[in-house]
Amino acid sequence: MTSITVNAPAKLNLTLDVLGKRVDGYHEVKMVMQSVALADELTLTLGPGEGLTLSTNLGFLPVNGKNLAVVAALCLQRECGIAWEHLNIDLKKKIPVCAGTAGGSADAAAVLRGLNELLQLNLSPERLAQIGEEVGSDVPYCVLGGTALAEGRGERVTTLPAIPFCWVVMAKPDFPVSTPELFARLDGQRLRCHPDTTGLVTALREQDLHGVARRLFNVFEEILPQRKREQVEELKQTLLDNGALGACMTGTGPTVFGLFESGEIAQQAYEAVKRLPVEAFLTYTIPSNI
Ligand code: C5P
Repeated sequence: MTSITVNAPAKLNLTLDVLGKRVDGYHEVKMVMQSVALADELTLTLGPGEGLTLSTNLGFLPVNGKNLAVVAALCLQRECGIAWEHLNIDLKKKIPVCAGTAGGSADAAAVLRGLNELLQLNLSPERLAQIGEEVGSDVPYCVLGGTALAEGRGERVTTLPAIPFCWVVMAKPDFPVSTPELFARLDGQRLRCHPDTTGLVTALREQDLHGVARRLFNVFEEILPQRKREQVEELKQTLLDNGALGACMTGTGPTVFGLFESGEIAQQAYEAVKRLPVEAFLTYTIPSNI
């Protein structure tokens, strides 16, 4: 085998809590994560020549060591002492960029899973997740995917019962957010509310989708500057007015999503948000990335 194509599913935060700042500069987090079918597609090809190249359908993405897909390949090479002649990573980007949906981390995780298979390394998912820690806090979760609790700086991942299947409408408003900047803003404020993570995990165990949807919560919504916070609130309200069981921002944003039991209602909500100045997506939950 000289080539393999792997999917890199986007992630959503069903909850996101920040518990405090750590001595290493990172923050202690507690988050329930969920994979969706919306995914980038990566084709890894081995061939004659030398080195590592990345090609992509999005001209503005870095194709060097600033791209997490490249970082992941180099990490795996170093950790496992493997060698290849030439490796090309062709990245077909479908997940929105800088959106709170772990697109870059998902690509890195897909490179780890793909190279494991292509080079027949037989590394366990847990070992791949451990290698992913070096690449970024969300990469270990993105190796495994599905429904999971992520703790520590995000790298400590515990699989949870899969969310009951549901449709998801995602909407990315047209303003940028910087993850380090939002973490820094959070340090200067006292959080008023925290998610009911235990309640949400219980709802997952009971396969109670309405209970899950009622408990969607992200502490970063409160941290956003006022105008951005209002835009996020308006988008959540649009999703709820159009039949979402619950709505929330994911990661450090700005993407907002809603959960739906009915595909028909989700389709109508998708049509409604598509009329707004956002990037809109209709997708659904998936149980695992492996
Ligand atoms: O780990 P990653 O490179 O994805 O993190 C990006 C940035 O987000 C970090 O440099 C840090 O500023 C912030 N971060 C944090 N605490 C976390 C995860 C990320 O402060 N648990």
